[in-house]
Amino acid sequence: MSEQRIVVAGATGHMGERIVRFLNQRGAKAVALTRATSKPDKVEVLKKLGAEIASSTPRASTASRRPCAGASCVVSALLGVRDTMVETQTVLLNGAVKAGVPRFIPSDYSLDYLPLKPDENRNLAWHREFLERLEKAPIKFTSVLNGAFMELLKGQAPLILFKRHRVIYWHDADQPLDFTTMNNTAEFHGRRRDGFADAEVSQGRRRANQRAPAGRDDEQDDGSALHAHLGRFRWAA
Ligand SMILES: NC(=O)c1ccc[n+]([C@@H]2O[C@H](COP(=O)([O-])OP(=O)(O)OC[C@H]3O[C@@H](n4cnc5c(N)ncnc54)[C@H](OP(=O)(O)O)[C@@H]3O)[C@@H](O)[C@H]2O)c1
Repeated sequence: MSEQRIVVAGATGHMGERIVRFLNQRGAKAVALTRATSKPDKVEVLKKLGAEIASSTPRASTASRRPCAGASCVVSALLGVRDTMVETQTVLLNGAVKAGVPRFIPSDYSLDYLPLKPDENRNLAWHREFLERLEKAPIKFTSVLNGAFMELLKGQAPLILFKRHRVIYWHDADQPLDFTTMNNTAEFHGRRRDGFADAEVSQGRRRANQRAPAGRDDEQDDGSALHAHLGRFRWAA
């Protein structure tokens, strides 16, 4: 079987670099989309991980189309405001579609935002806006809904105050929260979907079947190779 080629946008970021590392470990060829302004040390790390560097901005559709040629999946781990999360990802998506890539993974890596009201969370509203474009595109996609990254508990979202022996909560101390580590989430990209137990994706698949146009659900495609233990995944054609 020929080497699987997977394009990773946002490869210089926290998630992107991890995804590249796990793809490399599984023997896939990661093509890292970087920009002229990306930090050279970050690009160097990607090279050492064995990634092919495609230095171009996804804002230029022709530039994103070229590295997508022959890829089995385009993974986006971009992070920014609306211009990046909606417009840049759309250019990347268009590049993937034009290049005939079968699957796209948007930069979700979040809680399940579909039940939220559109104005409830500004950042997740951009995820939803992009998802609406993705659903109309002629490409299969997988959205990774891992809950919150566990790393944030000690950093940007300090829910657990170790020194004070306290856990911060709002309203309800029994509110369930989903957490997954960044490594665990990134590692999903390095696994083959063939070996997944149905139960691991059943919740997401059920939702996907409700949402995806008839006949477009694709459970056999291994383009993304993801599963979740703690998080939830939405599978859709
Ligand atoms: N669930 C959670 O708790 C949680 C927490 C954090 C993040 N996330 C999600 O994880 C994903 C990745 O986040 P991260 O923390 O890995 O982000 P990050 O470290 O800030 O990396 C962002 C990446 O996006 C690239 N980028 C940003 N704007 C761009 C643009 N306009 N054009 C091209 N590239 C651009 C950056 O490239 P340069 O290096 O060139 O700037 C970088 O590679 C996002 O979807 C984010 O929402 C989830």
